[in-house]
Amino acid sequence: MTLTDSLNRPLRDLRISVTDRCNFRCVYCMPREVFGSDYPFLPRAQILTFEEIARLARIFAGHGVRKIRLTGGEPLVRRDLHLLVAMLADIPNLDLTLTTNGSLLARQARLLKDAGLKRVTVSLDSLDNKIFKAMNDADFPVESVLEGMDAAARVGLGPVKVNMVVKRGVNESSILPMARFFREKGYILRFIEYMDVGHTNGWRMNDVISANEIIRMINAEMPLEPLDPNYQGEVAGRWRYKDGSDEIGVVASVTQPFCRDCNRARLSAEGDLYTCLFAVKGFNLRDLIRGGATDDEISQAIVSLWNKRSDRYSELRSENTISLPKVEMSHIGG
Ligand code: GTP
Ligand code: 5AD
Ligand code: SF4
Ligand code: SF4
Repeated sequence: MTLTDSLNRPLRDLRISVTDRCNFRCVYCMPREVFGSDYPFLPRAQILTFEEIARLARIFAGHGVRKIRLTGGEPLVRRDLHLLVAMLADIPNLDLTLTTNGSLLARQARLLKDAGLKRVTVSLDSLDNKIFKAMNDADFPVESVLEGMDAAARVGLGPVKVNMVVKRGVNESSILPMARFFREKGYILRFIEYMDVGHTNGWRMNDVISANEIIRMINAEMPLEPLDPNYQGEVAGRWRYKDGSDEIGVVASVTQPFCRDCNRARLSAEGDLYTCLFAVKGFNLRDLIRGGATDDEISQAIVSLWNKRSDRYSELRSENTISLPKVEMSHIGG
């Protein structure tokens, strides 16, 4: 029987954060003033082992999860991630993907593909090194990310998707160059509205460039037409260039929330289960596992949590919700 929540939404997509660490300090995600050298990242003993993650993933798959996305922090900073990929790849009927900043992808792409990863999404906010470095605040050049994407495409981890977070006054001048460049490359570029995730990035509505604005801007140079979603609950709205088959996407979670179809759960690196990207608190599954719970007992906990779920943060976003002490994105992935 399909597991549904209190708003009748099934559980289909599980996003697993494998580490809260990252080698970037993107201004909209891990601002350096907060995530400095004294930041208390999770100690190793508190992070789920690969065996624990794989066991939970199997239980989730038993409740209808059909897609697992590995995230972080930056998932590729977790040592030997390909070993986890291999364990998860054994679960039948699963779309197994990864979202990465791309900086370590060139050297791991082959290993990940051979382990059974199906595809990757790589974040990149500009092709201009000055802008990109100002955004990642870790002096990483555009070229290393592009090499990562190309390596992924070469070994068959495609179609490669590219995520660009757009922040007003910071990288809107990169929208058209990115669209032209990735159209040429044949990678699917998705523009993401800057979101008020966490409580450290100083988000203001004024910083958001809406998906409509982005589409208008691109359409003026390269005419676009809308496409139907690939599946119910897809977060990115799809558009196709009228004179070709290449597509782009827009994730409009601020101006056009999509909570109604939200079928995603998120597991943090320390094993807390979150039923919304903007949740304040998660449900601790690690203590259950380490306390010797059986698969059935863990299953019961997941079922009762999902049955009660009523989250729809983006639809309710207001002055009062923006200042809530929400979990950081680097803690539960995007
Ligand atoms: P595919 O459709 O398989 O490509 O996956 P996806 O689009 O869900 O994956 P991805 O991790 O690239 O998500 C795109 C972006 O949308 C993320 O980086 C987040 O910024 C945002 N996003 C993803 N899921 C949610 C969600 O449930 N709620 C909100 N508000 N934003 C989300
Ligand atoms: N708003 C929108 N997207 C964000 N991401 C990280 N922080 C934010 C934010 N505040 C994106 C990353 C990555 C994905 C996992 O989420 O750039 O592409
Ligand atoms: Fe790291 Fe991704 Fe956050 Fe940037 S957005 S700091 S790359 S986790
Ligand atoms: Fe899902 Fe929460 Fe995002 Fe709405 S805000 S789409 S409920 S994760």
